[in-house]
Amino acid sequence: KPRIYSGMQPSSGSLHLGNYVGALMQWRELQAEGEAFFSIVDLHALTSAKDPKVLRQQVRTLAAQYIAGGIDPEASCLYVQSHVAAHSQMAWLLSTITGFGEASRMTQFKDKSAKEGVEAANVGLFTYPILMAGDILLYDTDLVPVGGDQKQHVELTRDLAERFNKRFGKTFRVPKPHILGETARIMDLQDPTRKMSKSAETDKGIIWLLDEPGKTVKKIKSAVTDTDGSIRVDAENKPGVTNLLGILSAFTGRPIDDLVAEFDGQGYGAFKGAVAEAVIDELSPIRDRTLDLLDDPAELDRILDANAERASAVADATLDRAMVAMGLR
Ligand code: TYM
Repeated sequence: KPRIYSGMQPSSGSLHLGNYVGALMQWRELQAEGEAFFSIVDLHALTSAKDPKVLRQQVRTLAAQYIAGGIDPEASCLYVQSHVAAHSQMAWLLSTITGFGEASRMTQFKDKSAKEGVEAANVGLFTYPILMAGDILLYDTDLVPVGGDQKQHVELTRDLAERFNKRFGKTFRVPKPHILGETARIMDLQDPTRKMSKSAETDKGIIWLLDEPGKTVKKIKSAVTDTDGSIRVDAENKPGVTNLLGILSAFTGRPIDDLVAEFDGQGYGAFKGAVAEAVIDELSPIRDRTLDLLDDPAELDRILDANAERASAVADATLDRAMVAMGLR
């Protein structure tokens, strides 16, 4: 059985459609096929300043969304990164075999630090992919289901695993990214040339899982398209329509060609209506279930505590192996 590992940051009150389609949908499918670990990466979230009370609440809200979105916390290990001490320790070990230049080439760091300038960025933002590599390697992971924006980080993880094994003897399993082509990059509905991201300037083009259904319908109906009128895939000239086709395909499970055959010629209004309906049908029950789960925070905490123990058992053993291999302990 393959080991599956992935995680998300508790960095806003709600997941967005990109997180849902790019990650959570795949997790749900893969969890039946292997032994899965899904983390809430609160240590990563510290790289952008957080109010402690808000962070704690966002961790619970994310846990509730994982469960409401179909992650079974009995079958899969759903836990919080900071509850397992091995993550921080592994990050240090791996940082000593990561090149400064290598880390400097991570595009997400370049993008994020460019906003305020490299001088103002915290060092955690720079070493963030190393912490992520440790997350993955601690669990002897085979597959890492993520969106396209995390590909470079998974590749760094593979490089570090291979380098470590070569230098210190076979210690880590070398993981593979699991990225679905069509949904790897869900775009912002108002600016479909940019990926949907919580750091966008306005949230008019972002569908939040926990938004009220009426708001979601409005956002989809006012998605930016073009004046050409045809419904087909053309990422270059028709990024808005192409994005909506990808979303509709993800939510209906139907191939894009089928959708094009059905909707081309019907006009954007009818097409957007169908997208909105498919999205709402799936997301509103998840929203309701999330809100229900949040009514019982003690039960959520119980689940997270129990799973932290399961995760620690696996992670501690790997950390120990790595330390011994390096001449520690
Ligand atoms: P994060 O929290 O930014 O995003 C969570 C997941 O959502 C995917 N995603 C998208 N997919 C498609 N279209 C989009 N517009 C879109 N936006 C986000 C991301 O690719 C990701 O899969 N560094 C990671 C968290 C992490 C992690 C890990 C992931 C920490 N340790 C170990 C896997 C394994 C991050 O910040 O994801």
